[in-house]
Amino acid sequence: MPRQLFVTTALPYANAGFHIGHIMEYTQADTWVRFQRMAGHEVHFVCADDAHGAPIMISAEKAGKTPQEFVAGIAAGRKQYLDGFHISFDNWHSTDGPENHELSKAVYLSLRHNELISTKTIEQFFDPAKSMFLPDRFIKGECPKCGAKDQYGDSCEVCGAVYAPTELKNPYSVLSGATPVLKSSEHYFFKLSDPRCVDFLTEWTQTPGRLQPEVLNKIREWFETDEDGNNKLSDWDISRDAPYFGIEIPDAPGKYFYVWLDAPIGYLASLKNYFAKTDRDFDAFVNDPATEQIHFIGKDITYFHTLFWPAMLHFSGRKTPNHVFVHGFMTVNGGEKMSKSRGTGLDPLKYLSLGLNAEWLRYYIAAKLNARVEDIDFNPEDFAARINSDLVGKYINIASRAAGFLTKRFDGRLSADLGVEGRALLDALRAQRGAIAELYETREFGKALRETMALADKVNEFVDAHKPWELAKQEGMDAALHDVCSVCIEAFRLLTIYLKPVLPALAAQVEAFLKVEPLQWSDSARALGAHQIGAYQHLMQRVDVAKVEQLFEAPAAPKVVPGGEDIAPEIKIDDFAKVDLRIAKIVKAELVEGSDKLLRLTLDAGEGRTRNVFSGIRSAYKPEDLEGKLTVLVANLAPRKMKFGISEGMVLAASHADEKSTPGIFVLEPHDGAQPGMRVR
Ligand code: MSP
Ligand code: ZN
Repeated sequence: MPRQLFVTTALPYANAGFHIGHIMEYTQADTWVRFQRMAGHEVHFVCADDAHGAPIMISAEKAGKTPQEFVAGIAAGRKQYLDGFHISFDNWHSTDGPENHELSKAVYLSLRHNELISTKTIEQFFDPAKSMFLPDRFIKGECPKCGAKDQYGDSCEVCGAVYAPTELKNPYSVLSGATPVLKSSEHYFFKLSDPRCVDFLTEWTQTPGRLQPEVLNKIREWFETDEDGNNKLSDWDISRDAPYFGIEIPDAPGKYFYVWLDAPIGYLASLKNYFAKTDRDFDAFVNDPATEQIHFIGKDITYFHTLFWPAMLHFSGRKTPNHVFVHGFMTVNGGEKMSKSRGTGLDPLKYLSLGLNAEWLRYYIAAKLNARVEDIDFNPEDFAARINSDLVGKYINIASRAAGFLTKRFDGRLSADLGVEGRALLDALRAQRGAIAELYETREFGKALRETMALADKVNEFVDAHKPWELAKQEGMDAALHDVCSVCIEAFRLLTIYLKPVLPALAAQVEAFLKVEPLQWSDSARALGAHQIGAYQHLMQRVDVAKVEQLFEAPAAPKVVPGGEDIAPEIKIDDFAKVDLRIAKIVKAELVEGSDKLLRLTLDAGEGRTRNVFSGIRSAYKPEDLEGKLTVLVANLAPRKMKFGISEGMVLAASHADEKSTPGIFVLEPHDGAQPGMRVR
């Protein structure tokens, strides 16, 4: 019976592109999903941008955009990563989509109907300059414990102390610099401390096989009672005051859902959006007891997914997740902090633009993954060694050693016999199909790949023992050569099946080379027989470590601008201050007889007199286009005697190094309101 799977990864915040941690999560989930599809199951694999919340609202404001425009810009950049790393989501949506607004309100109203919503007036820091409540991350001050300056509102990076923002000394708003004031407002809470919730979550989290053992241990800590015997599960503040980019709470004007309330509902919203597009019945599917709902997430968001989320679903009368699969973090070069400026991170787009193969990274990540919540590290030497010795040295090598003889000597036709030893080897390879499938199923990808490479070793031993390159030279050994090479190709096909969840693009190339239909898991139970294959073309390069190391070189300062001109050597602010730039009105503009380059400008720079300036802009402007306009004048430039008279300054204009190239020359003009004589600084 095919399974019915609804699979998600965490919805990334829509405030930046992806980092290597996102690619790691997507690779893990995608590998699992591809395995399930190969096994014949029905999978719906969806994700979405997590669009809401104060940080995104603030980033949008800084970028001069509406939050909607801002997140749309981020969303437009997603495809290059997802395609680049072969991540096969069926749908990508946004938590700001209409489905999520509707579903979030419905979930909330059900919770309210179940008397699990309460209100309480709380005091919080408010930025009087910005007229908004400040999230902890936007308040800084001196650590109440050690006195370190510029510490965030929740914890000190110097001494590690954890505190409430109100405990900071000399607090200030990161947004405006203003001193925040305490202000009270009514907040909405999800009553997680309600005995019904506690009972439900105790049972849900402890259902055998639902969660990983170490996740369950963590949850037990959260359930422990404190010194006063109170359960630590406290009510959850789910509202934020306007201004906020989010979903309005029904019957609560000016109140919005906290982003973490509507974010996981976005999983359902993306599925609903996808089902509408593909004409499927969303309600029937999500309510079907046979549907398995599975979330892949990182360890930092376990609380939200194993407590809040199942409780929200259950008490709004919905099905709860079957599994939440938690992974550790990906670090780079021994866990150094990922910093773009220091160039120590691994930028996925830079990886692709350097021409590094996306499947090398997929393979490397998968080889390091297991079912536990462990961090994994990217290290360039280790990376190159694994790809070169395993993937290229062991696996690709098998095809490249055998294919040439088959096409040249046997017209690409495989032997049907294969010989006793060959058949035994292939049987041994097939015998592992169940075990490897089980390793994929249980997310033990590292083990699955190690098993597969152990099989590749066996095949290479077989090749070394039978030496096709020698058989090829010997008289009368054609049948033996044919068998050995055919065994290699059949083995290569089986190994390709075992690797396909991790290496889908490579597998597609192999399918073309072998002239077979897209490989399914069940194809590992059968044999190709006397099949005719195509010509072998090299399938995968070896890794060049130097190229990988380029990934970590700090990006060079932008030197060359689009016009092809280098940025001039650095100057100090004092150097710049020497240039006196003034707003000037072009009182008059005239052609200059005898010059096809110049216009004569009469400028008023607010000095009680006018100036005469010759400007080389005739090719771009007619005199009448300029008269009456404002521009910028270099007012303290030494006067220059020219053939046509004295030029008392210079007006500013933009162009490429070659002024004659398109698009030409553009005289600068200030925004409305500037007046002649104002200094430009
Ligand atoms: N928006 C929330 C998730 C909402 S889910 C309803 C969020 N977004 S995130 O962009 O910060 O993280 C997205 C996923 O990436 C999370 O599962 C997170 O754990 C994961 N990772 C973030 N950094 C990571 C690594 N360095 N390594 C591996 N995964 C990491 O949290
Ligand atoms: Zn401190």
